Amino acid sequence: MSEKMWAGRFKKQLDNEVNDFNSSIRVDCRMYRADIGGSIAHASMLAKQGIIGTDDAERIINGLEEILRDLESSKLQFDMTAEDIHMFVEAELTKRIGDTGKKLHTARSRNDQVALDIRLYLREQSDEIIDMLGDLVKVITDKAEQYKATVMPGYTHLQRAQPITFGHHLMAYAQMLLRDISRIKDARDRMNFSPLGSCALAGTTYPTDRIAVAKALNMNGICENSLDGVSDRDFAVELANALALVMTHLSRFSEEIILWSSWEFKFIELDDAYSTGSSIMPQKKNPDIAELVRGKSGRVYGNLIALLTMLKGLPLAYNKDMQEDKESIFDSVDTVKQCVAIFTPMLKTMTVIEKNMLEAAAKGFINATDVADYLTKKGTPFRTAYKISGTLVAYCIDKGTVLEKLTLDEYKSFSEVFDNDIYDAINLENCTFRRNSEGGTAIESVEKQIKSVRDKL
Ligand code: ARG
Repeated sequence: MSEKMWAGRFKKQLDNEVNDFNSSIRVDCRMYRADIGGSIAHASMLAKQGIIGTDDAERIINGLEEILRDLESSKLQFDMTAEDIHMFVEAELTKRIGDTGKKLHTARSRNDQVALDIRLYLREQSDEIIDMLGDLVKVITDKAEQYKATVMPGYTHLQRAQPITFGHHLMAYAQMLLRDISRIKDARDRMNFSPLGSCALAGTTYPTDRIAVAKALNMNGICENSLDGVSDRDFAVELANALALVMTHLSRFSEEIILWSSWEFKFIELDDAYSTGSSIMPQKKNPDIAELVRGKSGRVYGNLIALLTMLKGLPLAYNKDMQEDKESIFDSVDTVKQCVAIFTPMLKTMTVIEKNMLEAAAKGFINATDVADYLTKKGTPFRTAYKISGTLVAYCIDKGTVLEKLTLDEYKSFSEVFDNDIYDAINLENCTFRRNSEGGTAIESVEKQIKSVRDKL
């Protein structure tokens, strides 16, 4: 353990175990690029404002750039006994350029520095996740296009309800994920304000130019209150929330993929590269990937609650509790990236077994609503029509037949309104493809949805 920067006030060295407990470098070392980028912007502002000399700033910036290069090429390793990434970079800089390095921390504190670093790091991660989700939505819309005329049962209560197309079903997920993208963008926009220059909590007596730093870092502006600047972490909560919802959506989708790949459904088959076998049952092909995605949603929810709980009782401004923010939000970011990265190709490579979807749709009296609609369109009040249709279903169940196979005489014994065109009205494809209301399951409607989503991407 090297000497602490704050050693002046202390008579003893930190206990090793305490140092380990206190240190965050294992978690925050991944922010090195943000940390160095922020420091470079800070140093050049200090020089422009005449707070440090131009020569000093130049040496600092060159030193920082060299550290960045050495870290990226693994020539330089993180010192895991350092307190955090900020202390590590500053110590390394001073080691390289001597006392000039000690000028970098003028008019700033680790409190505003870390608040800036997390924002910059999460901004970059948000962009990556937005791109990845965009790719997933693209795969979904391509599949939806391919299966826009594939009839399957639509479910409520996991009971066959009405026929839909597989394309229509898939496009529901496209909508959810588009909202996820928009939520992440919102969070990104609000996090993209610079707290640097808030210093420890109260601002500074140096003539800093915070706006110039924010501009240099491509940020939307500055945090207007220095206390808030160093103690706000709600941007991390917002992102954690958006990511929790991403997991909710992926988890629901996974659940369906798991059901669909079972022998009970067999609507799809996952590619061998995206499923696993059993150690004992040779016949098995398990949807482990989808199950893991479903399972991992728990930790992402947990991270959101951990962040909220960490913040809730904190007095202003900075408290060390806040160091815990990173482990949670980084885990959410990592988990979502991992899941999306594998979910997208799993979906892309799965085989759709249209025949089984259609067969399942042909069972379960999925066209009973259409019998009622048929009568209603001919003047029977809907409630009466609904009852007649229900009685017909009960009749079919007793007789072990289906609505399509009843004779017209049988139909007429339930209502005189029935005519030969009933068979056309309850034909499975007609029931599906005629539902052409906005957002409905008809081919034109699904095409419209696909186009709209593609336009938004
Ligand atoms: N590692 C610390 C964190 O992540 C950096 C800020 C430390 N500030 C302090 N006053 N001790 O929060």
